[in-house]
Amino acid sequence: MLIIKASSYEDLSRKAANIISAQVILNKKSVLGLATGSSPLGVYKQLIDWYNKNDIDFSSVTTVNLDEYLTLSGDNVQSYRYFMNQNFFDHINVKKENTHVPNGLATNLEAECIRYDELIENLGGIDVQLLGIGHNGHIGFNEPDEAFEKMTHVVDLGETTIEANTRFFESRDEVPRQAITMGIKSIMQAKKIILIASGNDKLDILRKALKGPIVPQVPASILQLHPNLTVIYCCDEEI
Ligand code: F6R
Repeated sequence: MLIIKASSYEDLSRKAANIISAQVILNKKSVLGLATGSSPLGVYKQLIDWYNKNDIDFSSVTTVNLDEYLTLSGDNVQSYRYFMNQNFFDHINVKKENTHVPNGLATNLEAECIRYDELIENLGGIDVQLLGIGHNGHIGFNEPDEAFEKMTHVVDLGETTIEANTRFFESRDEVPRQAITMGIKSIMQAKKIILIASGNDKLDILRKALKGPIVPQVPASILQLHPNLTVIYCCDEEI
């Protein structure tokens, strides 16, 4: 595990974007695993900037996102598909048909979860997976549990997650209570993982996840077992 303390959110974003950019330059057919939330916004901004300077070409890249809320369509402004289009895909030359987000409107959810795992497998797996971390240690929407849930599945969101996500909605009542998420195994199979976290409010969970015991009650703790994990964080104190 490589742990890098960034000097600012911009520094963190640039460092993570550098790794993704190198990946795409070395293999233009890279499969990028992407996340939503506030943490990766600076990374996407930086990658868009380099794309505009002709430094990166996304035309042969494929992307797979970690998760999506149930009941929201891709044109709902709160959906993760909408977020990705707005904050990244609409500003680069990735082919939309090569960008994948779980379908939160699928009528057969079990089939949708299987389809998503098969899709990742058929793509040859994820080359680099970008991750944020929730205050309760969730990655994707893998919430604290009694066991590590392996494959893509439907989750009931935890109270702290609903609370944290309320900031993106008009009211708490509007936050969907369920989501589809890649499972721990789908995430852990990525060849390389970049975990980013910014702000002192993430210090405690970063310490638990990276220095504490590996337990499903802290889902991100499983990342300690990944052979190619880079953590880039920006907090006042060392982890
Ligand atoms: C988003 C996701 C979540 C977020 C996590 C941190 O696709 O999977 O696990 O990465 O909730 O969110 P932020 O970055 O907003 O603190």
